[in-house]
Amino acid sequence: MKSTIRDLTLAPLGQSKIDWVAPRMQVLNMIRKEFEEQQPFAGKKVVICLHLEAKTAYLAHVVRAGGAEVTVVASNPLSTQDDVVAALVQQGIEAHAWHNATEEEFKQHLQLALDTEPDFIIDDGGDLVSTIHTTRPELLNKVKGGAEETTTGVLRLHSMARDGVLKFPMIAVNDAQCKYLFDNRYGTGQSVWDGIMRTTNLVVAGKTAVVAGYGWCGKGVALRAKGLGARVIICEINPIKANEALMDGFEVMPMSDAAKSGDFFITVTGNTDIINKEHFVLMKSGAILCNAGHFDVEVNVAQLKELAISVRQARTNITEYTLPDGQLLYLLAEGRLVNLAAGDGHPAEVMDMTFALQALSLQYVALNYDKLSTEVYQVNTEIDEKVAMLKLQSLGLSIDTLTKEQVGYLASWSSEEKS
Ligand SMILES: NC(=O)c1ccc[n+]([C@@H]2O[C@H](COP(=O)([O-])OP(=O)(O)OC[C@H]3O[C@@H](n4cnc5c(N)ncnc54)[C@H](O)[C@@H]3O)[C@@H](O)[C@H]2O)c1
Repeated sequence: MKSTIRDLTLAPLGQSKIDWVAPRMQVLNMIRKEFEEQQPFAGKKVVICLHLEAKTAYLAHVVRAGGAEVTVVASNPLSTQDDVVAALVQQGIEAHAWHNATEEEFKQHLQLALDTEPDFIIDDGGDLVSTIHTTRPELLNKVKGGAEETTTGVLRLHSMARDGVLKFPMIAVNDAQCKYLFDNRYGTGQSVWDGIMRTTNLVVAGKTAVVAGYGWCGKGVALRAKGLGARVIICEINPIKANEALMDGFEVMPMSDAAKSGDFFITVTGNTDIINKEHFVLMKSGAILCNAGHFDVEVNVAQLKELAISVRQARTNITEYTLPDGQLLYLLAEGRLVNLAAGDGHPAEVMDMTFALQALSLQYVALNYDKLSTEVYQVNTEIDEKVAMLKLQSLGLSIDTLTKEQVGYLASWSSEEKS
């Protein structure tokens, strides 16, 4: 085993981070026990391409407990925690990643991980799947399938399937209810503000937060901004989502209007060029800009650089841009996912559900790949409900069950039975 990491001596610190999250991921622990007994991945190789922090490291251990030979690689150059990957390597898991890898190094790491010739993969954002299809055609017969973590990756997979180029089945973990209702909404909601607050050390109450995108993530970011005492403005392109934001109690307006009053700008659309030159010039001096969408294309950093008369590092993870009129704009984490590039990502209890879905979806692929075609599959309802039930169980909670009469009542259609 040959890993490509920065510094193995960081392992004890990384191990303490993994040890902190492991007992807080109770659903994953229950699945780990099942995996240890059933060995669903015995003799198989798995490449995991996710944000390399403690919760992901624990998922890697759980997949290995199911019999797999696991290799991890980063899904984003800024979210890798060098101490965590060092701890993985020390525990015998191959890793190819370091924090702040250049574009070239990032691509090299993906190639090194693929040199292990995986049977199954877990991807986040679609870079691993895309790299296999575009640069490693010899692996298209070897990789039997996998699972995708996020909205942007699932969109890319659907585009590949539509164009007839997807060559193995992928499960859209993002689209499971136990994923987006909790991870995208509450996970992103909390961790984005954690990232902003720990990086800036500024007050949120009484300020104006502009959230671009009122999807599952945007709803969480807006909800938590409100809870922190901010005035919240939503920018959307979808009239239904805009109405929803309005009825949830937020102001709605285009970015060209919101740009003038925001103190914090958070993009979370999964789209490109959300905040551009024409918006930067309208902003108040001191405005904080950041992104929580998968790729660093939502805040137009190239235009911000072009516009600026000077650029300097104001503090760790904060770049200060001085505009010609003297306004100072502050960009967090270079416009990459602020909660992961300037924080520790979602809380462990939330990632417990997401990674339980990942583990069970990977098991589903491992047991059924010969029956699956080269499509994007939804997570089975049984898996989604199993994760929800295990989560309640881990919290010591139970819920009611339908009586026989209630089942009959819900299934009936005649007026006599209904009244
Ligand atoms: N930071 C994280 O930890 C994290 C977690 C989950 C997902 N994500 C990523 O966040 C992004 C959003 O995910 P989601 O699940 O909320 O997606 P979603 O599809 O539920 O929501 C995206 C919203 O953005 C809106 N939108 C699109 N273009 C826009 C524009 N030009 N201006 C304003 N609004 C626009 C859409 O109408 C939609 O309502 C994706 O890239 C996803 O991969 C990040």
